Amino acid sequence: MRWSPFALVALLKQSQAALRFGCGTVTIQRLDPVVQSNVSPSAHLHQVVGGNAFSPNMTGDIGNQGTCTTCTFSEDFSNYWTAVLFFKHTNGSYKRVKIMENDALPAGINGGMTIYYTQQDFNSNGNKKITAFPPGFRMTVGSPTQGKDGLTKHKGLRFTCLDTKSTRFPEIDDFPKKPCKGGLMTEHHFPSCWDGKNLDSPDHQAHMYDTQPTGFAAGGACPSSHPVRVPQLAYETLWDTAEFKDMWPKDGSNPFVFSYGDQEGHAYGTHADYMFGWKGDALQRAMDSSCMFNACENGKPLKSQSVAQMNACKAKEFVNEDHEGWLKALPGMTA
Ligand SMILES: *[C@@H]1O[C@H](CO)[C@@H](O)[C@H](O)[C@H]1NC(C)=O
Ligand SMILES: *[C@@H]1O[C@H](CO)[C@@H](O)[C@H](O)[C@H]1NC(C)=O
Repeated sequence: MRWSPFALVALLKQSQAALRFGCGTVTIQRLDPVVQSNVSPSAHLHQVVGGNAFSPNMTGDIGNQGTCTTCTFSEDFSNYWTAVLFFKHTNGSYKRVKIMENDALPAGINGGMTIYYTQQDFNSNGNKKITAFPPGFRMTVGSPTQGKDGLTKHKGLRFTCLDTKSTRFPEIDDFPKKPCKGGLMTEHHFPSCWDGKNLDSPDHQAHMYDTQPTGFAAGGACPSSHPVRVPQLAYETLWDTAEFKDMWPKDGSNPFVFSYGDQEGHAYGTHADYMFGWKGDALQRAMDSSCMFNACENGKPLKSQSVAQMNACKAKEFVNEDHEGWLKALPGMTA
């Protein structure tokens, strides 16, 4: 094909943004409005970031609910959540592992996660049309009941043993076998091909299709069953395991467990949930622009807020359960 000025214009118009931003913890609570809607408390504990409308029965367009968000982008009232990491002492007690912020983010964010909406790979914007999720959209990736084969199939669910907060490789598919000097990172990459029709599905996954070869890599073409390319959504959580470095079991077994209570010492059940809640067309406007990471802030094209404003936002407490300090059992579990 010969290049024409028209083709060039079309390419320029398709230049797309890549978003990377921090969202502080909005609540740590035993709720799961996607998988266990209307159930309070839910089966296991989650760490949640984003808008403060988070509640057991939230539904509909959450971009229009709540009054604040813990995210840098102040029009993003979405909720993002994962299981919570616990340290299991050889004496049988558990303690929640604190969450620390990524060093690529502005200092002082209260715990939380780093959120990505990309389309090509980590370093470039790409040139595909990306359709923002519609109001009411939700999905999950991974599952507490998934075995090792789940993580073999899904290259987007990974762990990194951190030397420093900037360590990114190697990515491993289970808990590390030794203490990690700089903490542990969990990564959740969601599928980015949507069926274009369903805001959700009975298993919260069938409306999506994954063509990602591995995390932060260019995805293959979407299949005809799931033809709509949506942003490649990913979460990173940094767990501050330093406090436990001298309590590592002498037999070398892994002492970390996720809040869903797999006692085998494996992390195959790692999972994450998403409820879309950007206001109006904010996410579409961002994906249609060509900004990258923090260059998208300050109205170019997204409104942003200070760390103090992010940290001031909190969701309502529904469960009122103590999950701090040394516990006899994981919240909601008998061991
Ligand atoms: C959620 O529950 C609260 C309290 O029970 C109720 O006031 C509200 O109407 C419910 N919302 C939905 C969408 O069911
Ligand atoms: C287990 O060890 C921790 C840390 O020393 C301690 O605080 C906790 O009370 C112990 N739990 C039991 C059941 O002894």
